Amino acid sequence: LPKQRLLVVANRLPVSAVRRGEDSWALEISVGGLVSALLGVNEFEARWIGWAGVNVPDEIGQRTLTRALAEKRCIPVFLDEEVVHQYYNGYCNNILWPLFHYLGLPQEDRLATTRSFQSQFDAYKKANQMFADVVNEHYQEGDIVWCHDYHLMFLPKCLKEYNSKMKVGWFLHTPFPSSEIHRTLPSRSELLRSVLAADLVGFHTYDYARHFVSACTRILGLEGTPDGVEDQGKLTRVAAFPIGIDSDRFIRALELPQVQDHIKELKERFAGRKVMLGVDRLDMIKGIPQKILAFEKFLEENGDWRDKVVLLQIAVPTRTDVPEYQKLTCQVHEIVGRINGRFGTLTTVPIHHLDRSLDFHALCALYAVTGAAQSLGAGAILVNPWNITEVSASIGYALNMPADEREKRHNHNFMHVTTHTSQEWAETFVRCMGVLSSSSSSSS
Ligand code: G6P
Repeated sequence: LPKQRLLVVANRLPVSAVRRGEDSWALEISVGGLVSALLGVNEFEARWIGWAGVNVPDEIGQRTLTRALAEKRCIPVFLDEEVVHQYYNGYCNNILWPLFHYLGLPQEDRLATTRSFQSQFDAYKKANQMFADVVNEHYQEGDIVWCHDYHLMFLPKCLKEYNSKMKVGWFLHTPFPSSEIHRTLPSRSELLRSVLAADLVGFHTYDYARHFVSACTRILGLEGTPDGVEDQGKLTRVAAFPIGIDSDRFIRALELPQVQDHIKELKERFAGRKVMLGVDRLDMIKGIPQKILAFEKFLEENGDWRDKVVLLQIAVPTRTDVPEYQKLTCQVHEIVGRINGRFGTLTTVPIHHLDRSLDFHALCALYAVTGAAQSLGAGAILVNPWNITEVSASIGYALNMPADEREKRHNHNFMHVTTHTSQEWAETFVRCMGVLSSSSSSSS
């Protein structure tokens, strides 16, 4: 059977381009949860459509980059600097991202944001239309178009305007907030209506799906049903599809000699010390300052651990043109400096903070050394990140945990991660779309 063709549309392509010359390009794997999850999906005949993270104003550049990306089955959407500024830095990452994570709008420029809101929203719609144009150009009958994330809430509507028969799914990789939060957006209704143009709308959790449905009922006055949202007889299916990772890729990598060498090196370097690992984009929602403040408190109160534990924090720079992210970088550097100054010695520091990403093999080695815990119910130690005392106590609990408990928890996590993979997530979503296509074509 030929594989189902899938057009995956996301703001960020799985590779980001760096210009090396007039017609030469280096492609680097992009960071972030969305890319990590989707890279593990290979059951489909998939093409990616998205932004390569670079401004390419000239025709030669656009032509050569398009060719280089085609080898990776990627199709670029070229966004100019002004659109990126208003749509990506502005509307997506200064407004939607913090709001969807309950951080509200940036405090001191709330009014400025409100004023610049309309032009940013216009740029957002314009950018979404540009994505739609590229999708439309590459669409073939029978394709499933899977749109991703808060950058592209307008896209389902644009696509359906082009072709009402196109099967369109939309999936959000962030929380969808309570309708009380969503209603504080000037464009609250327009965004909801545009998403509702999709055939299937997916969220990570049942709660987010429920928040979305109640936003549609309370703000738009539509009817919520157990299957989704209904508008004048047309049903948009809404459901939860918990995401996973490509666990096989990690397990396979562990066998590689270079990963084994890395592991050995790390074990030697940190012999006699417990290693705590954090791998995050340097983003407000990751709780990095909260984590290191809790670590500081732990070191303060547990003097005997000071030379026996180290926190490795990989903080991958992200959205560096957005002021809130610049502020966060300064804040984290200041706290790390203070803690290392307080508790460091001539030869060791308690926190190794890296402002960069690591390659996949180095990461695997780190995960292998630390046995990274996922937020996985019974396996992980769950904390309230806002409560520094509780986090500090949990650090102590984890460091002192007996080996048999650690193993039991780890097995639980391992089982979960290897049975709830990104492949399975994507298959479930696409299967759901497939069922919709056959049922709607039989009824039409
Ligand atoms: C999150 C978002 C993704 C985004 C990623 C990286 O995971 O859900 O859509 O791609 O962060 O952020 P960036 O702004 O660099 O694409």
